[in-house]
Amino acid sequence: MTAVLLPGRPHIAYRDNELFVEQAALGALAREHGTPLFVYSRASMLSALAAYQRGFAGRRARICYAMKANSSLAVLQLFARAGCGFDIVSGGELDRVLAAGGKAGDVIFSGVGKTRAEMRRALELGIACFNVESEAELEVLSEVAMALGRTAPVSIRVNPDVDPKTHPYISTGLKGNKFGISQERTLEAYRRAAALPGLKVVGIDCHIGSQITEDGPYLDAMDRILDLVEAIEAHGIPLQHIDFGGGLGIAYNGDEPPAADALWARLLQKLDARGFGDRELLIEPGRSLVGNAGVCVTEVLYLKPGENKNFCIVDAAMNDLPRPAMYQAFHGIVPVTVTVVNDCDKRSWEVVGPVCESGDWIGHERELSVKSGDFLAVLSAGAYCMSMASNYNTRGRAAEVLVDGARTHVIREREKSADQMRMEKLLP
Ligand code: LLP
Repeated sequence: MTAVLLPGRPHIAYRDNELFVEQAALGALAREHGTPLFVYSRASMLSALAAYQRGFAGRRARICYAMKANSSLAVLQLFARAGCGFDIVSGGELDRVLAAGGKAGDVIFSGVGKTRAEMRRALELGIACFNVESEAELEVLSEVAMALGRTAPVSIRVNPDVDPKTHPYISTGLKGNKFGISQERTLEAYRRAAALPGLKVVGIDCHIGSQITEDGPYLDAMDRILDLVEAIEAHGIPLQHIDFGGGLGIAYNGDEPPAADALWARLLQKLDARGFGDRELLIEPGRSLVGNAGVCVTEVLYLKPGENKNFCIVDAAMNDLPRPAMYQAFHGIVPVTVTVVNDCDKRSWEVVGPVCESGDWIGHERELSVKSGDFLAVLSAGAYCMSMASNYNTRGRAAEVLVDGARTHVIREREKSADQMRMEKLLP
C-alpha cells in the first residue's frame, strides 16, 4: 500500500489512491452521510495543541482556544478534556462552552461590543477575565459588576500598532482597526480601571491579527506590550498575566508559518531576556488548532465546459465555505479518489457552488480531472468554515464527522428545512 501525505496535514493522506482522514476513507463517509460533509481528525487537533503545550512546558501558561474558529460542541469537548480554556466573544459561545462540559472559570471574554446582559451572565458564572476593548466598556462593566455585588477581573486589550502582514479584513492590531485601546491611551485606561470600584485589574492582552505566517510581528508586539507592562506596573498597578492573543497561520497554499513550539521558543527567549519569564501567560489560538484538521467533502454535480471558462459545479457553496467569497481565500481542492489519467484529461476548472451569486466560488483555475458524481475534498476546512456557515438560499448546514483512528462519530446532523424554519411564524 502506498501512502501519500498532504503537506502540513499529518493525518490526512492517500492510501492506494483513496483519501483518508486517519483510518476513515472519505469516499465511504461521503456515501454514508451525504455531502457536503465536514470531516475532522481528532489526532490532528490534539497534535496541533501538543505543539503549543510543548512550547510552554515548564511555564505558567493557559491555552484558551479561540472557539470562533470552530465552535461545534464535540470540538469544544475535545479541547476542554485536553485541558484548554476558551476565548469567547459572545454569550452564545459561553453557552456552548458550558454545554460541551467546559468550565466558566476557564473562560476569557474578548470582543468590542459586549452587552450588559452578556457581562451579567459571565459575571454570575465567574469567568476568568474580561478582555476589555474600550474605556466606555470599562465604565459599563464596573457598573454591571457593582449592581451584582461582584468584582470583574479585567485585562485591557492593547492595540500595539504592528502590521501582521495578513489580509486587511483579518488584521486587527493596526491603528485604524476597531480593536483595543491605543498604546498612547493604555496607561490612562489602566489608571481608570484600577480606580473603578467594580473592577480588578488582572492582566493585559493583545491580538494583532489572524493567519500570521512570520514571527516578526509577534516579536514586535511582545516588545511593545512589555514596554507597557513596565510602565503600568511603575504606576503601582500589578498585572498577573500577559495574553498574547492568537493568530498563528496554517499552510493553505504553500504558506510556511512557524511551528507553534518554535515560535514560542523565540518568544519565550525574549520574555526571559526582558525579565518576564515567570509571568503567567495566556494565548488564544484558533485556526492553528483546527484549520488543517478538517476537510469538506463535496460531490461534483455538473460539468459545464465553456469558451472562456470551465465550470465544475459542486454541492458545497459559499454558505458552507464562506472564506473564498469573503477574503478571496485559497483552499486546496483535491480528488477523494485519484484515477489514473493522462494529463490531457485534466482541465482548468472554476470550482463553484449552487448559490445564485457570482461570488459563490470555491476555487479558481484548478487543474483537476473530474466527472459528475466524483467527490472532491476541500482542504483546510476545519477553521472558520462551519462556524461561519449560513443558511443562504435556504441551504441546510452540512453534517460533521469527527474521526478518531478507525472510529467515526457524527458530531452534527445535516440540517433539514424544518430545522431552519422552526423559529419562524406565519401571520395570523
Ligand atoms: N483572539 C481574538 C481576540 C480574535 O479576535 C481572534 C480571531 C483569535 C483570538 C483567534 O485568531 P486565530 O488564531 O484563529 O487566527 N474569519 C477569518 C478569521 C477571523 C479571525 C477573527 N479573530 C478567516 O476565515 O480567515
